[in-house]
Amino acid sequence: RHIYILNGPNLNLLGKRQPDIYGHDTLEDVERNCRAVLAEGFDLSLLQSNWEGQIIDWIHEAREKACGIVINPGAFTHTSVAILDALNTFEGPVMEVHISNVHQRESFRHHSYISLRANGVIAGLGIEGYEAATRRICSIVGA
Ligand code: DQA
Repeated sequence: RHIYILNGPNLNLLGKRQPDIYGHDTLEDVERNCRAVLAEGFDLSLLQSNWEGQIIDWIHEAREKACGIVINPGAFTHTSVAILDALNTFEGPVMEVHISNVHQRESFRHHSYISLRANGVIAGLGIEGYEAATRRICSIVGA
């Protein structure tokens, strides 16, 4: 059983980008920490793209290959009906993760199209949010 951990624009710079907001850990650290919390019999792929269409293509691929999706859509969270539509074609659990507490930030970050589909939403736990989301997918799918 496979989990896709999808990351949107600018998250390739995680660790270097605005560390006061997003911290010093990188996506490699996220992947290592998520692997450490995977339940028996699960595997994961952590993917990142700055391109909306690539994220949509991975969600379509997940329809065949993944039992759950963890997604940090970056700024597409607040703009992308297309990513919402793609997630609505996926049958398994979807966990939305934001490293920062988006509700404490600019008002344009307070609305998420993705939350209309997400089974759970995590914001402000730093990169630990990805681990919590990965655990939650394992417990929903494994139950
Ligand atoms: C983010 C929050 C978004 O508002 C922002 O555009 C990001 C990262 C987060 O992880 O806190 O790129 O999703």
